[in-house]
Amino acid sequence: MKNKILVIGSINIDLVVYAQRHPIPGETILGDRFNTFPGGKGANQAIAAARLGGNVQMVGRLGKDTFGQALLDNLRKNQVDSQSVFQVDEPTGTALITVDAKGQNTIIVVPGANATLTKADIDQLKETIRDTKVLVLQLEIPLDVVIHAINIAYEFSTTILLNPAPAAHIPIETLRKVTYIIPNESELALLSGKETNSFVDCRQAANQLFALGCKQIILTRGEHGAYYLSPDHQIFAPPFKVAVVDTTAAGDAFIGEFAVALAEDMDLHTALLRASAAGALAVTKAGAQTSLPLKSEVEAFLKKHKQEVKSF
Ligand code: RIB
Repeated sequence: MKNKILVIGSINIDLVVYAQRHPIPGETILGDRFNTFPGGKGANQAIAAARLGGNVQMVGRLGKDTFGQALLDNLRKNQVDSQSVFQVDEPTGTALITVDAKGQNTIIVVPGANATLTKADIDQLKETIRDTKVLVLQLEIPLDVVIHAINIAYEFSTTILLNPAPAAHIPIETLRKVTYIIPNESELALLSGKETNSFVDCRQAANQLFALGCKQIILTRGEHGAYYLSPDHQIFAPPFKVAVVDTTAAGDAFIGEFAVALAEDMDLHTALLRASAAGALAVTKAGAQTSLPLKSEVEAFLKKHKQEVKSF
């Protein structure tokens, strides 16, 4: 059965400082603790999907340094097929993350080895993309590579999920080919050129993209829940109330579960509900890949926390 999830994206080592608050420019403050975690939006989404029961292959680049080897080992340990992950002569991608007392983060990513992925590398994977059910992409690898992968997947009618993070301008002819664009509010604002301060704003911003030919948007609004939006339909998944420790990779857990749900032909209501539960569980633990839940944890959580997902 064709159920493969292919993630083409970044693999980073996360250097994380926990502090009471974020410093302002020019200020030095004392933090509470420091930790290193395996991260990178691509690897997080791949491992999230694998832990949630997906059949996942990852495409990415790491350095030949100790971080690179540890991150590769971690992908394998989490049952992610890593035959297309290679170590190159650049440092492993690094994310400098600060998390405040409310669990909110700021992140600076230095792509390093992630930036060496090329369109020619993607050409080598045409058959793999043809045999993929759900392709998952983000923007921590070169944009021309993302666009190229989307063009190939579109020709094969592969379902394409694009998480446009970190926010960047993407050609509209590329966005039109994406099956589900999965932004947060600030990413939607950049893509549409509209404000996204309220749900009404967000709907108008989405309408702007629909008017230009985009098909479907899954909008993640953190503590305000998640939405499926299309030109003529919308579904709302209310947020789960949980104790927030660290919001890093919550969006990645959401996308990993959404990809698994699509690969398993679940309906959109169920997909949104399960993705929201995975995202909620991820914020209750520190770190990126260390916080990603297992399928059994999502299912136990959903039994305990009833939530109704509604079309409106
Ligand atoms: O989405 C969270 C991720 O963003 C972190 O793991 C960090 O590596 C950055 O890529």
